[in-house]
Order: sequence, then C-alpha cells, then structure tokens
Amino acid sequence: MTMLDKIEKYLNEIENFQSHDPEEVENFRIKYLGRKGLLNELFEEFKTIPKEEKPEVGKKINELKTRAREKVNELKAAATSTSGRQIDDVTRPGYPEAIGSKHPISLTRQEIITIFTRLGYTISEGPEIEDDWHVFSALNFPDEHPARDMQDTFFITRDPDVLLRTHTSSVQVRVMENEQPPIRTISPGRVFRNEAISARAHCIFHQVEGLYIDKNVSFADLKQTLIYFAKEMFGTETQIRLRPSFFPFTEPSAEMDISCTLCGGKGCKICKYTGFLEILGCGMVDPNVLKASNIDPDVYTGFAFGMGIERIAQLKFNVNDLRLYFENDLRFLEQFKAKI
Ligand code: DAH
Repeated sequence: MTMLDKIEKYLNEIENFQSHDPEEVENFRIKYLGRKGLLNELFEEFKTIPKEEKPEVGKKINELKTRAREKVNELKAAATSTSGRQIDDVTRPGYPEAIGSKHPISLTRQEIITIFTRLGYTISEGPEIEDDWHVFSALNFPDEHPARDMQDTFFITRDPDVLLRTHTSSVQVRVMENEQPPIRTISPGRVFRNEAISARAHCIFHQVEGLYIDKNVSFADLKQTLIYFAKEMFGTETQIRLRPSFFPFTEPSAEMDISCTLCGGKGCKICKYTGFLEILGCGMVDPNVLKASNIDPDVYTGFAFGMGIERIAQLKFNVNDLRLYFENDLRFLEQFKAKI
C-alpha cells in the first residue's frame, strides 16, 4: 500500500469512529496521536520516500494529524457534555438541578437593610480603595492615631494616600460632602484590615455604617433607633445596654451590647457569664467631623453607628469561626438554603 493509500484509509477510519466512552476515546487518541501511534509511524516512513513525493505526502500527513486532533476534541467534548450522555434507561429519574443558596453574610446584610429602610434610611456606597482624608482625617483621627499604623491599614501603592478602607465610616464623609441634611443613610460594604487570619479575626470583613443628621437629633433618638433595630433583628425580648466608649469621630461615644441571644441575660458560656454581647459602636457625630464636610455644627447634630455583619451573622446563625464565611465550603453554605 502506498503512503497516500494508507493516509486515505486512516482518514476514513477517523471519520467513521464514534464513541461516548471516555476510555475508548482515549485509546483512539493513543492509537493515532500517541508517541508510538500511527501518525508518528507515518512521519518515520516519510523520511524514506523519494524527494519528489514529499510535498504531496507531507501535506496529506499534516491534514490527517489535524483531523485526528479535531476528532479527539469533538469526542471528548461530547463525552463530557450531558447531550452526549448515553440514555440507557428512559424511566430513570432526571438529574437533580443543583440549586444555590444565599451566603449567610448576604442574608444578614439584607435583613439589616430591610430594618433600616423601614425607618426611612437610604442606602449609600463608597469606594473600597480610599484616601487618607475619607478614612481618617475627615473623621477626626489625629495624625499619630495608631489606627493609621501600617499594621492595621493596607496600603496598595507606594503612595501612602492610597489605601483600602478599614471601616465603612468613610462613606459617611462622602455622603456629607455631597448632601446637606436631613441625611438618613446606611452604608453596607467590605472593609480591610491587616490582621492575621484566625477564628476571631480576618483581613476582609463587612460592616454597616449608619448616619442620621438633622436639626435637633439627640442621643435619645440614637437609643430608640438602636432598640428598634435590636428587637427587629434578635427578637422582641432583646434588651440593650450602652457603655461609654471612645471613637475619634463621635462625642459622646458608646458601645452597644444586646442581652445574650442564648441565655437571654442569665449568663452562659457564649456571653462569658455577663448576660450581654457586644454588637456595635455608636455616638453623636463629633462637631469636627461635621465641619470637615461643610455641615454647620451650630445648626445640625447627628448620630452614627457601625456594626460588623459577620458579628451579627455569628449571633444569628451560631457560627463561631470567621474563616467559614470566606472558604466557600459547600457543606457550610448549603446549611443556609432554608433561609432564602
Ligand atoms: N468605624 C468603627 C469601627 O470600624 C465603628 C463605628 C463606631 C462606627 C462608632 C460609627 C460609630 O459610626 O459611631 O470600629
């Protein structure tokens, strides 16, 4: 048989070969394209034929090789796609659709948003890549404040003025720069801190910031708003406790605890026998912060608060390792299917 005849024969074989079985397809590939396959055999034989035959035969061998490769790819694609799946039993039940579920952080964020929009709050967003002004300076952080330290903040270029926001309080500043009171807004978003990852800390997490500015806004308004939020989020039995605290951007400042979601305030392992769990920081917006964004502190007052979404989700769903939120392990995520 001449080489051209052989090539013709192989081309026919390739055209006629059919299989959905991955193993058969692999054997087919090895037969033609493997190291000791028919094509390499042809290339060896090609070396021995007279020079004048080479152009035509060479062209044909290359055609054969291309065709063999194409065929293998077609067969492989068909073997893995469902359309190529062999139907051996038409009464067999169908393949179940894999249905996704919402991430617990999304569920919690949505619930927080729903509660505050009921109180007339709008939603505002700001950039994750920020500058020093919006994250620190406009929020009354002194120059030497430790939160500006390299240990907490991710700087992403050599320019110290380009950084990842460490809290969503930066969005407050952006809102105040662009709007005059009355302002009533919440800002959910991702924040970044240079922390070693452990069960209790992560370098990426989520916060919701709240801001309310108008004439005659008082600490009593803040307290009522937070009581409403706590009862909506954790149940009508929930009690709150405000402890004096410090934040550069609020004066006075407080931290809010809720009565323990497990023992209801009696004292248990979850609340470390205190009866309370800390959930957010808050306070009256410092006049310096209003001034920095061109809002007149003699006319307007306001309150702000900020909470971690992971913390709220942890209490709602009893998840005690922060890393679970970011690993995307289906065994974890599938447990939230019923919550949609
Ligand atoms: N930005 C604070 C943090 O990341 C949280 C916070 C506390 C926000 C008090 C506020 C506030 O608006 O008033 O820890």
